[in-house]
Amino acid sequence: MADKVASHYAGGDSIVGALAESLRKAGKDIGKLTTADLGTVDEFHIRGRRATLELARSLNLSADSHVLDIGSGLGGPARTLVETYGCRVTGIDLTQAFCEAATTLSDWVGLSDRVSFRQGDATSLPFTSDQFDAAMTIHVSMNIARKDKVYAETKRVLRPGARFAVYDILQGEGGDVLFPVPWAREPSISHLATPDAMQSLLTNAGFRVVDVQDSTEEGQRWFEAMAARMAKAAVPAATFQAFLGNDFPEMARSQVANLRDRRIRTVTYVCEA
Ligand SMILES: C[S@@+](CC[C@H](N)C(=O)[O-])C[C@H]1O[C@@H](n2cnc3c(N)ncnc32)[C@H](O)[C@@H]1O
Repeated sequence: MADKVASHYAGGDSIVGALAESLRKAGKDIGKLTTADLGTVDEFHIRGRRATLELARSLNLSADSHVLDIGSGLGGPARTLVETYGCRVTGIDLTQAFCEAATTLSDWVGLSDRVSFRQGDATSLPFTSDQFDAAMTIHVSMNIARKDKVYAETKRVLRPGARFAVYDILQGEGGDVLFPVPWAREPSISHLATPDAMQSLLTNAGFRVVDVQDSTEEGQRWFEAMAARMAKAAVPAATFQAFLGNDFPEMARSQVANLRDRRIRTVTYVCEA
């Protein structure tokens, strides 16, 4: 199952090469990139960098914080935290090729000294207990059947009282998910929790849920705008298509329908360990 998930995300050729090509086509100079230039590809979730900053504000961060990013992808959210708060972030991701690309992108924008990425599975975190000051996870659990293990592991590696922010795609009330979607081309690697199940999973792992925000409406508008930009762009925009492949426009269409029909919802949970 883990192999199936990793090859869904990185089934193609060199991710770094594809990203560089896509950024060049969008008119960016690779030698002078900023994190803002990367935001349309390395913040791989609904509502992009804005959602990351929103989540970060709930984590009580300072420059001394060491944050764990679970399912760190290409590292955009981790770099956004480092740039904004001067903190340290360790990212862990199942997909080795994403960890390698995340390391290269951090070099490109000069943030390698405060961020690092390693391959690993969120259900069995390769860290000692009580070591992180905060943790976040953005759009990851929809690929994981054993979410109970993820949250138990997160609780274990956090210091008591530390904040944990989860921003995820959940099963909505509007019917079954239409595929393909950015996290799965077919149902066997898609495992969405309902909002009620999510609340219980977090509580059963020992977290106190201190805030819950549903952003589905805004997420729908964000996705519709991205799909419209992709359809109209004279100069090709750098999008998730660079690493997901040529079926990304189809994924975007089903994702807009999933959000519009409320087959999925995006919800943020802020928790305390
Ligand atoms: C949609 S991407 C989100 C990446 C990143 N959080 C972001 O918002 O930019 C989902 C990520 O979850 C990772 N992932 C899926 N299952 C995982 C697992 N069991 N352990 C760790 N990472 C996992 C994938 O490899 C992928 O990078």
